[in-house]
Amino acid sequence: MKLGEGISAVVTGGASGLGAATARRLAASGVKVTLFDMNVEAGEAVAREIGGAFVAVDVTSDDSVTKGFAAARERFGVERILVNCAGIAPVAKTTSRGEPHPMDMFEKVVAVNLVGTFRCIAHSSTAMTALDPVTDDGERGVIVSTASVAAFDGQIGQVAYAASKGGVAAATLPIARDLSKSGVRVMTIAPGLFETPMLLGLPEEVQASLGQQVPFPSRLGKPDEYANLVAAIVDNPMLNGETIRLDGAIRMAPR
Ligand SMILES: NC(=O)c1ccc[n+]([C@@H]2O[C@H](COP(=O)([O-])OP(=O)(O)OC[C@H]3O[C@@H](n4cnc5c(N)ncnc54)[C@H](O)[C@@H]3O)[C@@H](O)[C@H]2O)c1
Repeated sequence: MKLGEGISAVVTGGASGLGAATARRLAASGVKVTLFDMNVEAGEAVAREIGGAFVAVDVTSDDSVTKGFAAARERFGVERILVNCAGIAPVAKTTSRGEPHPMDMFEKVVAVNLVGTFRCIAHSSTAMTALDPVTDDGERGVIVSTASVAAFDGQIGQVAYAASKGGVAAATLPIARDLSKSGVRVMTIAPGLFETPMLLGLPEEVQASLGQQVPFPSRLGKPDEYANLVAAIVDNPMLNGETIRLDGAIRMAPR
């Protein structure tokens, strides 16, 4: 699908980091972008900057997501692109200091990262499949979700995060198969280490040391590089049902 005017997109987690970079990249190509996020101040600021819209949405709530898509569609029409970036990454071990992993934390991470992603996909694809196709292949829409290299090499303390992101990666193929008759493609990006507020909060020497662990290029990824892959996925009709690692060849060590 060609990016450009006449196409609209929804980006979850669009107030910050990879989502904000994606929103900027899509808007720069003429796409009308609606951001879903819980961070109202940052979300409104990005929306203003790119001439897009912001809706306060919690991806763990069906009601909130339903209202979010209704508001986005009223403003810009039904989205042909959905990018799922909303996510959280708290750390806890399976058992620590004689206590089991806090189950409410495990459930929350899965609720945001996995169920929240799938909720947005289910809602979005329901409307996308009713659109007219826009390419000779019959393409109607493109969905890109965000896993993590932790889906494959989760570190100590990342069990909840890795399980949630493994779920996002595993769901990619069956969702692509479910939507194949409707001309909606489904892809997932598994980023390595990217320069977003999550990592920029760490001391500089820790950031530098993390960057040096990346075989090549030996640095943290830039959010624009993630956004460029989203644009390439939307552009290339043969990309479907797969998770792409975007990680400079890093394989995470246990810690
Ligand atoms: N930065 C990295 O190195 C990295 C690596 C691998 C995967 N990821 C994944 O990329 C995605 C984006 O991460 P980021 O680094 O840009 O983080 P970030 O914290 O900068 O952005 C995440 C955004 O998601 C929003 N969010 C959180 N819970 C939400 C909810 N319930 N409903 C709606 N919005 C919610 C937050 O408010 C925030 O704006 C996440 O899924 C993260 O797990 C990031």
